[in-house]
Amino acid sequence: MKDAIYGVILAAGQGTRMGLSNQTGGKVMAMVQGEPLLSHSIKKLAAAGIKQIALVVNPENKQFLQNYAGDGQAWQVQLTYVVQERPWGIAHALGLCQSFTRQHKVALLLADNLFEASVTDAVQRFAVSGSGAKIFLSKVKEPQEYGVAVIQQDQVIRLVEKPKQWLSDWAVVGVYLYDATVYEKIKGLVPSQRGELEITDVNQRYLEAGELTWEALPGWWVDVGTPERLALAEAHLQTVRAL
Ligand code: DAU
Repeated sequence: MKDAIYGVILAAGQGTRMGLSNQTGGKVMAMVQGEPLLSHSIKKLAAAGIKQIALVVNPENKQFLQNYAGDGQAWQVQLTYVVQERPWGIAHALGLCQSFTRQHKVALLLADNLFEASVTDAVQRFAVSGSGAKIFLSKVKEPQEYGVAVIQQDQVIRLVEKPKQWLSDWAVVGVYLYDATVYEKIKGLVPSQRGELEITDVNQRYLEAGELTWEALPGWWVDVGTPERLALAEAHLQTVRAL
């Protein structure tokens, strides 16, 4: 299909803060409402009509995740496994997927992000007529823990990864839409102070090229990095199911 958009889900994190071993899949196998984070992520992309999804795993959790998710049939998608040897950054992990997504547009999802909103409309609009990059923003109380976007007159003017001083309370959510030029932008990156190729630097390149758009993500959003945040995600989903 001409307008097909491919999915990439990142599941190569270490999950150490969650006390979860890679041998049992790592952080993405943390259960929320009786279902692993990974399954929630696959469902989000499947609901948006995405059929081809690369799952980026690490050498330690690959076997477990492959045993769990297989070829993706349970979600009516086709899963392809891509191994990231070391956690060299979100942009590095996406870069490994170039030969998978080729000239297609890409929806990138961080498997530890859970959110209420549907991204189906945004993904489908981007697939048909989008270009450049689209990011999703959510207002947070602790912006220093995220990539943040500085907004002026409704435009993003700057993106900063985990700012030490307050710049904005708009955090960048772990779902991103890119055109196929994303790989050129990744190629020129240099590792950040934490030794990673940062997705924020990719987005900053789109911004400088005048090719970045954004939308506010309605509803709740949780970056499930700690057991406390996992409990928060659980509580949010419980509320939704109780309605
Ligand atoms: O959650 C949203 C935030 O995610 C954004 O606001 C930040 O701009 C973005 O950098 C990212 O920040 P984190 O520090 O939370 O990313 P983390 O290292 O936790 O990685 C997010 C997911 O990506 C996690 O499921 C593991 C996976 N990952 C991460 C790295 C660094 C990989 O698969 N490979 C990697 O090399």
